[in-house]
Formats: sequence, structure tokens, C-alpha cells
Amino acid sequence: MDIPLMETSIEDSTHSTMAASGYSEKAIGYYLERPFMGEMPGADQVSEMTGSCGDTMRVSLKIDQDVISDIRYQVLGCPGAVAAAMAAADLVKGKPLSAATRLNDGDIFRVLEDIPVQKHHCIQLAVKTLHKTIADYAAAHPDSVRR
Ligand code: FES
Repeated sequence: MDIPLMETSIEDSTHSTMAASGYSEKAIGYYLERPFMGEMPGADQVSEMTGSCGDTMRVSLKIDQDVISDIRYQVLGCPGAVAAAMAAADLVKGKPLSAATRLNDGDIFRVLEDIPVQKHHCIQLAVKTLHKTIADYAAAHPDSVRR
């Protein structure tokens, strides 16, 4: 019996659906590749936050001499949340904690180039979760985050 070949992969159909919804190529790439997604054994700080939409993010940081040497996000949420989280991680990896505390929604939007308007709050969740993680770390290490 002949089994019909699928003409489009799941990745292709996800790509075309996201593009039609208003996501840029950059945002789609972050969503599909997920370069900073996952757990981090031995993290120096792990914190999470749930947004008003009900989606949850968790950030794990590895910190060496007040610099974010590695970062991972875990995301229970939408494609916009995943793309925003990956962009945030890309922007702060290798940066001092003090610089990461200044990351804002506009920084991420500029990296993503475009996501649907109704997904802009997903960027806020990525930023707020990162800031909470740094604040939790700073509370436990009061001399760490210098401005
Ligand atoms: Fe909740 Fe995107 S809809 S983070």
C-alpha cells in the first residue's frame, strides 16, 4: 500500500502560520530554534512569574562575577512568549547584571522586528520574569547588582 508523503513539514506549516499572523522572520526563527530554552542544572538563581494571561515563564541564571554567563528560559505559553524569551536571553547573555536590569520591552521589540499587536504583552512577561530573577538573586547577594 502506498503511503502518501506529507508535502509540508510541521516546521514549514508553523512557519507559514506564524508569518501569516504577523511574526517577522527573526521572531519565527527564535520560536523554531529556541536557542536558550530549557532547564539549567546548577543555576545560581531560578525564578518564575505568571502573567495576567495565565502563561508562565521560568528563568535560570548562571552568574560569574556579576555577569550573566548563561541563561535559560522555560516557557509555558504562546509563540510570542517563546520568541520574546529567546530574544531577551540573547540580549543579556554575557552582560553585567546591572545592564540586564535596564533591559526593556523596546529592546526586545527591536530585536524581534515584528510580532502581532495582541502579543506585545508577551514581551513584558519575558522582561518582568528576567527582572524578577535578578531581583531575587540580588536579595540573596546584596552586593551583587551595582548600578
Ligand atoms: Fe501569554 Fe503570550 S499569550 S505570554
